[in-house]
Amino acid sequence: MHAEVALKGRSFINALDFTPEEYEALFSLAEEIRTHPQDFTGACAGRVLATLFYEPSTRTRLSFEAAMLRLGGQVLSVADPQTSSVAKGESLADTIRTVAAYADLIVIRHPKEGAARLAAMYSPVPVINAGDGAREHPTQTLTDLYTIRTLKGRLSELAVAFCGDLRFGRTVHSLLRALSRYPGMRFFLISPEELRIPEFLREELSAQGITMEEREQMEEVLPFVDVLYMTRVQKERFLDEEEYLRLRDFYILTPDRLELLKKDAIVMHPLPRVTEIAYGVDADPRAVYFQQVRFGMYARMALILGILGVV
Ligand code: CP
Repeated sequence: MHAEVALKGRSFINALDFTPEEYEALFSLAEEIRTHPQDFTGACAGRVLATLFYEPSTRTRLSFEAAMLRLGGQVLSVADPQTSSVAKGESLADTIRTVAAYADLIVIRHPKEGAARLAAMYSPVPVINAGDGAREHPTQTLTDLYTIRTLKGRLSELAVAFCGDLRFGRTVHSLLRALSRYPGMRFFLISPEELRIPEFLREELSAQGITMEEREQMEEVLPFVDVLYMTRVQKERFLDEEEYLRLRDFYILTPDRLELLKKDAIVMHPLPRVTEIAYGVDADPRAVYFQQVRFGMYARMALILGILGVV
């Protein structure tokens, strides 16, 4: 008997689409898969997952595809929209209705905010948002919560610092929203003025009574945090290349700065990394970002099983 996940037929567009209890059920299932992968081989035999990526990806697309293949299902993929009929001017609505005729579940990444929500409106099969512009990346949040839950043992009473591009970083937006539902959390936001969190998100969180301590210097915050969530400055969202280059190296986590962190803190990053974490940090046991990558595959296996109603 596996952990029960009651998500059959649901789309996953925003991090808040699932309750904390639904996330908890997914973590339990992901843990079962991680520890007993042989029990799930063939669970999705005869099912088809489609991945439609209108923006580049390594982890999200390949982890979903690896997840489906490890569950015994099949995968259809558009990794470059220029090789599909999008290049001939086909609308997202028509593309989705077409792909839904072939697949049981659609995973979509798109540069436009709201694109995944639109896709879900037209799709007769569930849709998973793999990132829509600078807005949301809920399956990264699923991965991040599962990583914190597993490595810190809880999702409450934690000090979490987000560092870097908090303006365009969709993983930050989704994770902040999700973590704000747990008790006893303390949030530090470390960014330059230009990359502070968007006003709509600040207002949304303030309206819930969430307080966030904003700083520009990472050194001021490092001694106090349990989780340090580093982010890349999102080059693809900048209109001005010079502005990007000026801000790109604003924060670099080096082995020297790592000395300021608590011994049991963890350093996370959704990846890809550019310059914001020095390679010299990777060997430190607190640097868990490649573990996070692996957790992401198990979390997505659980999500696929839950949405397809296989468990
Ligand atoms: N974390 C993440 O979304 O990575 P990719 O862009 O490689 O999918």
